Amino acid sequence: MAELPFSERAKGFVALVAEGGGSIAYDQWASSYEVDVNSMNYSGYTSVVQKWQSFHLNDVGKKHKLLDTGCGTGLAGELLLNSVSTPQAIQLYGGDISNEMLKVAKSKGIYTELQVINLKEELPYEANSFDSVICAGVFGVGHCGPECLPNILRVLKPGCFFIATVNKELFDLTAKEWKKQISICNCELLENTKMPYRDYATAFVFVVRKLIQN
Ligand SMILES: C[S@@+](CC[C@H](N)C(=O)[O-])C[C@H]1O[C@@H](n2cnc3c(N)ncnc32)[C@H](O)[C@@H]1O
Repeated sequence: MAELPFSERAKGFVALVAEGGGSIAYDQWASSYEVDVNSMNYSGYTSVVQKWQSFHLNDVGKKHKLLDTGCGTGLAGELLLNSVSTPQAIQLYGGDISNEMLKVAKSKGIYTELQVINLKEELPYEANSFDSVICAGVFGVGHCGPECLPNILRVLKPGCFFIATVNKELFDLTAKEWKKQISICNCELLENTKMPYRDYATAFVFVVRKLIQN
């Protein structure tokens, strides 16, 4: 039987995520994920990497420990390493709720470490241990929201940046909560710009900095 087009398969996938079956849905999607998102011109990870580059222009050659949260199959990590002149200086960590997505990421051989994580729970990394944290395509209605910020921002070093796409519909519904969580976590929202996400659609790209002093 011929495989259904992505537009049809996506309906079942969206329903499964909405029912709370996020990891199962992504496990099922892992093998065709990159082909599918390419077919919809997904560029959220490109926007995150571009923004990351613009905030780390002076870091060339410096040792940098980076965490890609909700890394999926590793699109952002792969692009980021390919776009810097000293990739050997970057230690790339990845975490995702879907083990099958992580298997695809592992096959790229670019991650220092990959593990199953749930952004809605405390993350299995030391506090204040990453020079930057990125997150592409994860914050959306029915997926993850601002409740994940304390878990993510805990592991970011003071003075460093968290860069993430945030779906516009989600932000419209939860703007106050984003501001509240960012402040509770002793962080500030430096930028909140619209950037390409897929086809002609945009998403916000947040740049959050952890303050050095309380
Ligand atoms: C649309 S994909 C984006 C993957 C990758 N960042 C990219 O840009 O291609 C969303 C990813 O978020 C992961 N995810 C969803 N909910 C999560 C959670 N609570 N904790 C960790 N990862 C989660 C999914 O498994 C999936 O790999």
